[in-house]
Amino acid sequence: MLTPTATVPDAEAPWTTDSWRSCPALQQPAYDDPQALGLALDALGKRPALVAAERVLQLKALLAQAQQGRRFVLQLGDCAERFEHNDLAHSTRQVALLQQMSQVLMHGLQLPIVQIGRLAGQYAKPRSSDMENRNGVSLPAYRGDIVNHHTFSPEARRADPQRMLQAHAHSALTLDHLHSVQAAGIDNLLQAEGWPVRWLDQAADAERFRPLLAEVHGTLRFMRTLAGSQPGEFLHREMYVSHEALLLEYEHALTRRHADGRWFNLATHLPWIGLRTAQPEGAHVEYLRGLANPLAVKVGIDSKPAQLLHLLARLNPSNEPGRLTLIHRLGASHIQDHLPPLIETVRSAGAQVLWLCDPMHGNTRTLPCGTKTRAFDDILAEVAEAFAVHGRHGSVLGGLHLEASGDAVTECLGGAVGLQAADLGRRYLSQVDPRLNRDQSLELALRVSLDAGAWRQRP
Ligand code: PEP
Ligand code: CO
Repeated sequence: MLTPTATVPDAEAPWTTDSWRSCPALQQPAYDDPQALGLALDALGKRPALVAAERVLQLKALLAQAQQGRRFVLQLGDCAERFEHNDLAHSTRQVALLQQMSQVLMHGLQLPIVQIGRLAGQYAKPRSSDMENRNGVSLPAYRGDIVNHHTFSPEARRADPQRMLQAHAHSALTLDHLHSVQAAGIDNLLQAEGWPVRWLDQAADAERFRPLLAEVHGTLRFMRTLAGSQPGEFLHREMYVSHEALLLEYEHALTRRHADGRWFNLATHLPWIGLRTAQPEGAHVEYLRGLANPLAVKVGIDSKPAQLLHLLARLNPSNEPGRLTLIHRLGASHIQDHLPPLIETVRSAGAQVLWLCDPMHGNTRTLPCGTKTRAFDDILAEVAEAFAVHGRHGSVLGGLHLEASGDAVTECLGGAVGLQAADLGRRYLSQVDPRLNRDQSLELALRVSLDAGAWRQRP
C-alpha cells in the first residue's frame, strides 16, 4: 500500500457509483429542467456500452509495459470532437495520422506503439469561466457538443440534456467508423503516396528525415510481400479510445458492472481527469477511483507534491501497474523547473505510474487579434525537454499526448510548413484549442524519432 505523507481521510469511505455526488463537482453545466435531465439519463442508462471490459483490461496491460519503457504511447486527437464533423472521412484521416506517426515512431524509437485516440467521446470541455461576454451580452460558455452548441445565442448555449444521448450515438458511430476503416484495410492508409510529406521540401534539414521515411516505406513494402498482398498481420491493429471524463452524469450512466463484479466505465477505454477537476477531494477523483479502467490525470505547474501524493493514494492505492497515467502539461519554459519535483514525488512514494508529455496545453497563447494558437517550436522544445528531464532523473517518458488533426487545418504556428499568424484564418476549425495539422504532426513524429536518443542523454 502507498502511504502518502499528506493528510488523507483516515478511513477511505466506501466507493459506490454515486459516492461522487457528495463531493464538490466542478465544471458541470446547469440544466434548467430537472425532469428532462432525468428522462435523458434514464434513456442513457439503457443504451449499450460503447467498449468492452476485456479491451479495457488489455489496454491496462499495455500501459503497464509502456511504464517500463517496453512500449511507447501515442495519444492523439481533437481538443473537442464535434457532432457535425463526425463522418467517415474525418475518422479515416485521424486513423491515418495515428498509423503514420506510429510507423515512424516505431522505427525511430524501436518500440511497439500503443495507439489511443482522443476519439469517440471527447465531447465535454472544461472552461475557465462559466459565462462568455460579447459586445455587452453575457451567455453561458460553450462546454462542448455534449452540453450545448458554440453559436452565440441564448438557445444554442442552453445546456440540453438530449445532447448526452446524441453524444452517445455519435461515439458509437465513430467506433463504427474505426471498425470500417480497419475492415477496409489499414494498409490503404499507409501507401506511400498518402503521406503528408510536402513540408519536407521546405525543411532546411529535410535530408535528415528521408532515410527514416525510406526505411518505413521499405519495411511496409517488405511486409506486403511477406504477407502476400497486405501487411495487415504486422500493423498496429489495436486502437483504443479515450476522453476527458468531465460530464459526470454522462459517465455515471455508462458505468456498468462486469460479470466479475468490478465496475467499469464502458464509455471509453481510458477516461482521464483534466487539470481543472483534479482536486483529490473532488467529485471526478471520487468517481474514477472506484473503476477498474486504467486512469489518467493531467498535472500542471500548480500541482503540488502533497496533492500529487494524495492523488496517487486515492487513484492507485494498491500500486497496480498500468493503472495510473500522469500526463504532464507544463509549458516549454516551465518543464525544466516543474517536472523534477513531480518525478521525485512519485519516486519517493514508490508509485508506479506511466508518464506522458502533453506539450500542447502549457504552450497556448493568444495573438493580438484574439486567435488562440501554439507554436510548433514550443511544442517540440517541451517534448525534447521532457525526454531530457526524465532521462536525467532515471525515469521513463512513456509517450505523448497531442491535440492533432489529420485534416489540413491552420491552427498552430510554424513547423517546416512555416505557418504564420496571417495564415491561421485560412482553415481554423477548432472551437476550443488549436491542433497540429497533419504536416506538423508527421514532422513532430520524425523529429522525435531521430532525436529522442540524444535528448535523453542531454546533460
Ligand atoms: C484538454 O486536454 O483538452 C484539456 C482541457 O487539458 P487540461 O486539463 O490539461 O487543460
Ligand atoms: Co485542449
